[in-house]
Amino acid sequence: MKNVTWSSRFTKQIDAEVLDFSQSLSIDIVLYDVDIRVTSAHVQMLSSCGHIKASEAKAIIKGLNTVKKMAENDKLPWSIEYEDVHMNIENALVGIIGDLGKKIHLGRSRNDLVTTDLRLYLRDFIDLYLLKLRETQYVLANMAKEHSDSLFPGFTHMQVAQPVTFGHHLLAWNEMLFRDETRLLHTREIMNMMPLGSAALSGTSLKIDRKMVAKSLGFKSITLNSMDAVSDRDYVCDFAYANSMIMMHLSRISEELVLWMNPQFGLVDLDEGFCTGSSIMPQKKNPDVPELIRGKTGSVYGSLMGLLTLMKGLPLTYNRDMQEDKTLILESIDTTMSCLSLLPRLISTMKLNKNKGIEIASGFFSTATDLAEYLSKKGMPFRTSHHVVGDIVKFCEKKSLQLSDLTIDELKGFSALISNDVYKALDPMTCIKSRTGVGETSPASVTKQANAVLARLKKSGFKK
Ligand code: ARG
Repeated sequence: MKNVTWSSRFTKQIDAEVLDFSQSLSIDIVLYDVDIRVTSAHVQMLSSCGHIKASEAKAIIKGLNTVKKMAENDKLPWSIEYEDVHMNIENALVGIIGDLGKKIHLGRSRNDLVTTDLRLYLRDFIDLYLLKLRETQYVLANMAKEHSDSLFPGFTHMQVAQPVTFGHHLLAWNEMLFRDETRLLHTREIMNMMPLGSAALSGTSLKIDRKMVAKSLGFKSITLNSMDAVSDRDYVCDFAYANSMIMMHLSRISEELVLWMNPQFGLVDLDEGFCTGSSIMPQKKNPDVPELIRGKTGSVYGSLMGLLTLMKGLPLTYNRDMQEDKTLILESIDTTMSCLSLLPRLISTMKLNKNKGIEIASGFFSTATDLAEYLSKKGMPFRTSHHVVGDIVKFCEKKSLQLSDLTIDELKGFSALISNDVYKALDPMTCIKSRTGVGETSPASVTKQANAVLARLKKSGFKK
């Protein structure tokens, strides 16, 4: 058993099973890169504040770079006997540069170190997410332009409701993803505060320059209460929540894709590369990717619940329970990222069956509302129009007809306000073209909205 840093006050060595139980190296090893970045910044600051010599800082940073290279080349002798990534790195550094390496922990503790590392690590992931979300929005906006006048059925209660354009539907997805982007930017803002120097919980007796460390690590500011700083994991919960919302959106999109690909809808076809066949039914082409995205959503919600429950009973300040945060958030990130990564390609390779879109969007009395509005535009109170059109639908259903199949005399029988221009009003293309307001379904509105999305993406720095 190695002599770990805290062992001198103990007379007995840690129980082997407890060591295995309590180590976090197997999970937090991924933090090695940020841990070295943080320690380098801390050491620079210690030197600039006169707590160690400049030559010592130089030697330590050189040693840390060697540790980094060793880690990258799988040459670092990681050991769970040093519990976690932080103590493994410190130990490896001491192995390379000797006792000088023992100076790095001055004015800090693992309690502030772990949360500084985690903030940096998660912040980098948010930047990756933003890229994928923007890439998907780019795909959606361009497809929306291409399909700005493709008729598509709009549903409520999973029943055909009114005709829309396929482009309008794609832009609805886009809004969900834009909210996800906004939520992530807010989460990034919240985690972008630097806790190091809070030390164990109360700060340090040394005069240190926390702002210098914050600046060198690209943090916007420093945390303002050392006790809160070491025990705050709100930013982890926020990220897990943002992941849950992303997955909820992706799952809803997936559900639609699964339905639309069902031959009874036949509205879209997913690329074969995203589908699989059946081991027994030779004809099958199954939408596995959206099904899996829908399925994986549960475990991402689970991580959020796990984190909220983890934190709910913890008194200030650091408690070892908090070590479990990484297991939960890393799993949540892994799953969400794998789904997010597939999304732009899943969508850009899907094909709309335009004829099916026209067929379904034109049937099922989808323009009944427009007929009611036609009557009201001619002076009939809307409740009355609604009633009259209800009677017409009942009549058509009995005779297995569509609204536009009725003769002008049959229609006039329901209301004297109806004249020959009614057939134009019943045309689904007229319906969609008439909805020209902001965010409505007309081809003009869709094109305008899609262009606005593309302009915003460009402004955000996104390049295709
Ligand atoms: N491995 C620990 C964690 O992830 C690091 C902090 C340990 N601090 C302590 N006082 N034992 O939370």
